[in-house]
Amino acid sequence: MLSIQSLGKRYPGRTVGLEDFTLDVGEGVLGLLGPNGAGKSTLMSILATVTRPTSGVFLWRGRDAAKDPLPLRRELGYLPQDFGVYERLTAREFLLYLGRLKGLSGAELSRRVRELLELVNLHGAADRRLGGYSGGMRQRIGIAQALLGDPKLVIVDEPTVGLDPEERVRFRNLLAEIAHGRVVILSTHIVSDVEAVATEIAVMRRGRLVAHATPEALLSRASGRVFRAVVPAERLADAQRAVHVSNLVRRADGVHLRYVANGSGSALPGSTPVEPDLEDAYLLTNLEAA
Ligand SMILES: Nc1ncnc2c1ncn2[C@@H]1O[C@H](COP(=O)(O)OP(=O)(O)OP(=O)(O)O)[C@@H](O)[C@H]1O
Ligand SMILES: [Mg+2]
Repeated sequence: MLSIQSLGKRYPGRTVGLEDFTLDVGEGVLGLLGPNGAGKSTLMSILATVTRPTSGVFLWRGRDAAKDPLPLRRELGYLPQDFGVYERLTAREFLLYLGRLKGLSGAELSRRVRELLELVNLHGAADRRLGGYSGGMRQRIGIAQALLGDPKLVIVDEPTVGLDPEERVRFRNLLAEIAHGRVVILSTHIVSDVEAVATEIAVMRRGRLVAHATPEALLSRASGRVFRAVVPAERLADAQRAVHVSNLVRRADGVHLRYVANGSGSALPGSTPVEPDLEDAYLLTNLEAA
């Protein structure tokens, strides 16, 4: 549905935001992972037709969306990373307002707004001004507005920032529900946010795509590379130089490490192999791309 071809973005002052990025995206949830500055927001704002690329093209349903953005915009729901709200409006007023901009009206609009407020669990606060909302509540309004008007392309940039664990789970379930028949692109730093719902994962680094695979494929690539071991506290620094520690817990008997080995085979004495999780797989992908 979405075909990204050699897309690039150079900001004034020659900062590279995106470089030679090529990817075909179909129905389902694409999880975008990458460290700060990797280019996730740059890519998403280009796809949302807010930022213009400096090279390459992208097609929505086979049509050049940079040249003719309207067909894409009509089917787009977008939550930018720096989403702002009108503080003096209530949540309901805000959604009604944005809904009208999207061409909804009347009973259909009020019904949809009510549904969305329930979906993001804000129906109890619907008539309070957004200025008095907490950060997580604002974020949930951001998610709700991205789903106004039945969008077929949903682009959400770090939607889970500020959500508490319960709301995170709710959001994940919501995504899984809406992914059917739609393209959902979601960026995050939190691997566990996409582990459960992503159909595919794209890992970015320095503006480039460094891995694109299903979660299962990423996991199987990491298989045989992840171990745990206990090292004495005074050997920790050595261990950290030898391997890539993904988790560390200090206990009475020493430091319990979970790590990704540089090559195949364990690198620390007394290691036990463990099943990789997506966090390990992501760490490994970044190591190989570095
Ligand atoms: N408006 C801008 N002007 C100049 N440079 C920019 C601009 N926006 C982004 N950049 C640069 O482009 C690169 C990619 O930034 P981008 O915000 O896309 O990364 P990101 O992956 O979304 O990072 P984060 O995880 O911190 O949100 C960075 O080097 C950044 O400094
Ligand atoms: Mg960003």
